[in-house]
Amino acid sequence: MAFAPIANTYEDFIKAFHPKSGLDLKFYKQNQMQRRILSFMNSHGHTVFPEFLKALDTDRVLYDAFFKHLTINVSQFFRDANQWKTLKDSIIPLLLQSKNPLKLWSAGCSSGQEPYSLAMTLLEYFPSAKFTVIGSDIDVNVLTQAKEGLYKQNDFASTPPEFLQKYFTLTDKGYQIKDSVKRLVTFQHQNLLTDHFQSGFDFIACRNVVIYFTDEAKEMLYSKFTDALRPGGVLFTGSTEHLFGMKHLGLKSVSSFFYQKQ
Ligand SMILES: C[S@@+](CC[C@H](N)C(=O)[O-])C[C@H]1O[C@@H](n2cnc3c(N)ncnc32)[C@H](O)[C@@H]1O
Repeated sequence: MAFAPIANTYEDFIKAFHPKSGLDLKFYKQNQMQRRILSFMNSHGHTVFPEFLKALDTDRVLYDAFFKHLTINVSQFFRDANQWKTLKDSIIPLLLQSKNPLKLWSAGCSSGQEPYSLAMTLLEYFPSAKFTVIGSDIDVNVLTQAKEGLYKQNDFASTPPEFLQKYFTLTDKGYQIKDSVKRLVTFQHQNLLTDHFQSGFDFIACRNVVIYFTDEAKEMLYSKFTDALRPGGVLFTGSTEHLFGMKHLGLKSVSSFFYQKQ
C-alpha cells in the first residue's frame, strides 16, 4: 500500500505512516518521536514529510532503517544483572510454589536476548521446572534475528561466562544459541498496542519498550498485561519503569520492578 501523498504536518505524517507500517505513532510521545523522526530525515537528506514518505515507499532499505530507528531495539542478555538475580532468587521460586509448568512471555523481545535469558535461567537453576517462553515484537527484522539465534560479543556484557560456554557455540559468524535453549522459545509478530493478548501467563517481562509511549498508552498496556496474567502471576518492568499510581490495576510490588497480580 502506498502512503497518502500529502503529509505536511506531523499529524498528517503519522496518519499516512500508520496503514503502511501498522505502527500508530499517536500512542507515542509526540515531542520525542517528532525529534527522532526529524533527526533521521535530516541524516538521510530529507527536510519535508511528503518527499520523505515517497522515499520510504520506494526504498525498502530506508524504510527498514527508519522502522528500526523508531522502535529502538537495543538489548542484551541478562540486561540489568541485579534484577535477574532477584528473578532467580525470589520470583521464579515464588511462581513455582503454586504452578509448574510455567508460561512466560517477553513482550517487546527485540532479537531474542530477553526470552533466551529467561529460558537459560530456568534451565540452569530450576532443572525440574517445565516451561514455555514466548517472545514477541512489532519489528519483523529483529524477530528474524531472534529465530536465527546468532549473537555478537557485546550482547553478553552482563552474561555470566559459564552461560556463554554452556548454552552457545562459537562459530565464525558469532555466538550461536544451542538448540536445547532455542526449542523452548517461540517468537511471534505482535503490536502490543493494538493486538489481542493470550491469557494465563505466569510471568510477563516488558522492559525498555514503553519509554516513548504516552501515559495513556502505558496505562492501557499495563491493564492488558494484568488481564493476561493469572492471579499470582508477575510483571517484570524496565529499570526506569515504575507503576506508580496504578494500584487500581490490581498489581502489587513484590520487589523493585516486579509486580504481582492480586
Ligand atoms: C529497547 S528494546 C527492548 C528489548 C528487551 N525487552 C530489553 O529490555 O532488552 C524495545 C523493543 O520494543 C519493541 N516495540 C516497540 N514498540 C512496540 C509495540 N508497539 N509492540 C511490540 N513491540 C514494540 C521494539 O521493536 C524493540 O525491539
